[in-house]
Amino acid sequence: MFAPIEGNPLAGRDLLRLFDLTPAEFIFLLDKAAETKALWKKDARAAQAAAPYTGQAVAVILEKPSLRTRISFERAAFRLGAQPIVMSDTSSAFSRGESVKDTIMVMERYVQAIVIRSFAQSRVQEIAHWASVPVINALTDDFHPCQAVADFMTIRECKGRLEGLKVAYLGDGANNMAHVFLEGVALSGMELTIATAAGYDPNPVYLAEAEAMAAATGAQIRLVRDPTEALAAADVVVTDSWASMGAEAEHDKRVADLGIYQVNGESMRLAAADAIFLHCLPAHRNEEVSDEVMDAAYSRIYDEAENRMHAQQALLDLLMAGGLG
Ligand code: CP
Ligand code: NVA
Repeated sequence: MFAPIEGNPLAGRDLLRLFDLTPAEFIFLLDKAAETKALWKKDARAAQAAAPYTGQAVAVILEKPSLRTRISFERAAFRLGAQPIVMSDTSSAFSRGESVKDTIMVMERYVQAIVIRSFAQSRVQEIAHWASVPVINALTDDFHPCQAVADFMTIRECKGRLEGLKVAYLGDGANNMAHVFLEGVALSGMELTIATAAGYDPNPVYLAEAEAMAAATGAQIRLVRDPTEALAAADVVVTDSWASMGAEAEHDKRVADLGIYQVNGESMRLAAADAIFLHCLPAHRNEEVSDEVMDAAYSRIYDEAENRMHAQQALLDLLMAGGLG
């Protein structure tokens, strides 16, 4: 599908959203993630001994809560030989109101990469504007690209390919996970149907950008109201929380609005017989997804969570290569 990638085109770059990558670069990153996982599964001691970034450091700034992102980035940095420096809550880099410019210009004197979880996408863009070291978006209101790399890696592991597979995304179509599925599917030539209620459609700008990319890669994107339309013959069924971080006050309204999009045993029976279920977690069991689905053999949620670590290790390895003289 693509010309083979020579060298490492990601060296020194940022990852603020998946569309920072070309289709070929996305697959290149997924290949590196799979290779990283295989190396560490084969011989973790030898892989650790070969860590390429000894003496370097990665800052992880968390302006929202995290379990998976925090631990997986800490482990990924450590496995590369780099020191992870996590700043969250009251010790967060920005908690005293220091300007983004001053904060980043200082921070990059100490660290070789900056990972940031925040609210507005414009904040990570501003950080990337000032930083000369790679900046990685570890979730904003609009995008969660690191989760997407792990998710598409998991799909490839389970299905052996991406191109042509049908993905059903049920629930909040306007959140960061819906947006990264639009981008990931468009980059990899898959078929995505988002089933959501009126008022929860994807950001129209991101949808249009994904449709333009889809036209180039052969991907297909549909938006429907009826969840059964999305589920029919789906190879991958995905959902996410209905009230994302920052939208907690709307929880009860969202439960009422999105109730018919719950992924349960009945939903999975409409999908392909060998369909898998993914959820970035944390899940709100028996809201957007039933216990039956979460705990089923076709649920790959814990592999998906594990793959955050391998995928982010691969990502740091590729991006930080720009700083090695
Ligand atoms: N999926 C994910 O990003 O989880 P955390 O919010 O726990 O980091
Ligand atoms: N959409 C969710 C994802 C959590 C990892 C949120 O933003 O809260």
